[in-house]
Amino acid sequence: MAKDTLTVTDNRTGKSYELPVTNGTVRAMDLRQIRTSEDDFGLMTYDPAFTNTASCVSRITFIDGDKGILRYRGIPIDELAEKATYLEVAYLLIHGELPTRTELDSFVHNITFHTMVHENIRELMDGFRYDAHPMGMLTSTVAALSTFYPDATDVHDADSRMLQMHRIVAKMPTLAAFAYRHRRGLPCVYPDNELSFAGNFLAMLFKMAERRYQPNPAVEKALDVLFILHADHEQNCSTNAMRGVGSSQVDPYSATAAACAALYGPLHGGANEQAIRMLQEIGSVNNIPEFIKKVKGGEGRLMGFGHRVYKNYDPRAKVIKKLAYEVFDAVGKNPLIDIAIELERIALEDEYFVKRKLYPNVDFYSGIIYQAMGLPMDMFPVLFAIGRSAGWLAQWREMLEDDEQKIARPRQIYLGEELRSYVPISERDNGFVAKPARPTKTP
Ligand code: CMC
Repeated sequence: MAKDTLTVTDNRTGKSYELPVTNGTVRAMDLRQIRTSEDDFGLMTYDPAFTNTASCVSRITFIDGDKGILRYRGIPIDELAEKATYLEVAYLLIHGELPTRTELDSFVHNITFHTMVHENIRELMDGFRYDAHPMGMLTSTVAALSTFYPDATDVHDADSRMLQMHRIVAKMPTLAAFAYRHRRGLPCVYPDNELSFAGNFLAMLFKMAERRYQPNPAVEKALDVLFILHADHEQNCSTNAMRGVGSSQVDPYSATAAACAALYGPLHGGANEQAIRMLQEIGSVNNIPEFIKKVKGGEGRLMGFGHRVYKNYDPRAKVIKKLAYEVFDAVGKNPLIDIAIELERIALEDEYFVKRKLYPNVDFYSGIIYQAMGLPMDMFPVLFAIGRSAGWLAQWREMLEDDEQKIARPRQIYLGEELRSYVPISERDNGFVAKPARPTKTP
């Protein structure tokens, strides 16, 4: 009868070991017993970039990249995008179940209640240069929030944890909007508790002299859906940063700042900006065949195409593509959509892309929508961070409540110098002749 074990023979010693296989994995620590001698440290695994290592057990998000499936707590992403609100999804991610009406009302109240930030945060924002990147401002001010909430250090207190999670989900849009207004030299707009989560964010971004900002319902809905689509994506780079930094038991504001910093990178939260730049560079539908030829020849990549996990159409891209037209109906068409649609059509028929299973990912169409809404490219990762904050916090909570988790501390393979002695600077001869110090000028 088949057994759920793996038998490994160490050819260095001839010894065999039987290791349990659980959930399709072997435990790296089970390899430690495989040693060549008493003083051998034991066998380790080497996996730069964690491409084949599970760092945790999670019950939050499921992805099947080959089939193009993404589910939050078991519910398909397209169903959530169609039927739920972002705050319902945030609740689902954090608590594991969809809220009842009473639970949702209370959650929405809590988030609405915590949207304001201390005036000192606004003043801190004023200290940034006029052209500071909004993602840098968001990352810094989220970290700064930890200094306002010393109670947040008590990460083992479930009530305190929940309070900080409400605060973070609530304050991210406020910080993001303040950063945007600072960039534009406009006064900050304070939260409006009468509006929805997305509607309030739009008001804080775009309100001018009118008494009351009324968000366009189609734009408000689309933004809410975009937040849902970005809310979690299992163990991606920023979530891994959230868990890794959070594992030191630091407060969640500091861990969220680390996650924001990870998201800031062009390989993570910045790809939709690259997709827009690419579409602008192509400039016209007529130039697409030439562009595709260049990509196939190794000159650059088709940005917004391909994914480490999805080897099928990214389910988020399907929803976003449809959403784009709903936004265009409300605010006017972004002409880049015509280039994107034709580019996708040609690429999906081209053997190069078909063979490599390259399909549009979430970033192919999202930037086109953000642009149509009037948002500049450097706000794209900020919008991503607002949506993703619910996922980061759900993962942070799961990590803290997991008895198997400890401070994250990978091993390394040391290939550096063996023991050697310190050489005084006067005795070091590396062929470099230092210039004498420049004489000080006498005034
Ligand atoms: N355009 C052209 N060729 C591509 C592309 C692309 N976008 N992506 C992959 N390839 C080719 C690549 O050249 C390689 O070909 P070959 O086998 O001949 O060398 C093959 O496909 C496999 O590529 P890879 O780099 O090994 O694949 P990966 O899984 O390491 O990379 C990726 C995934 C997302 C980094 C890559 O597809 C890419 O650079 N895409 C463009 C950037 C982009 O859209 N990033 C957003 C990702 S979604 C964000 C999120 O979910 O958080």
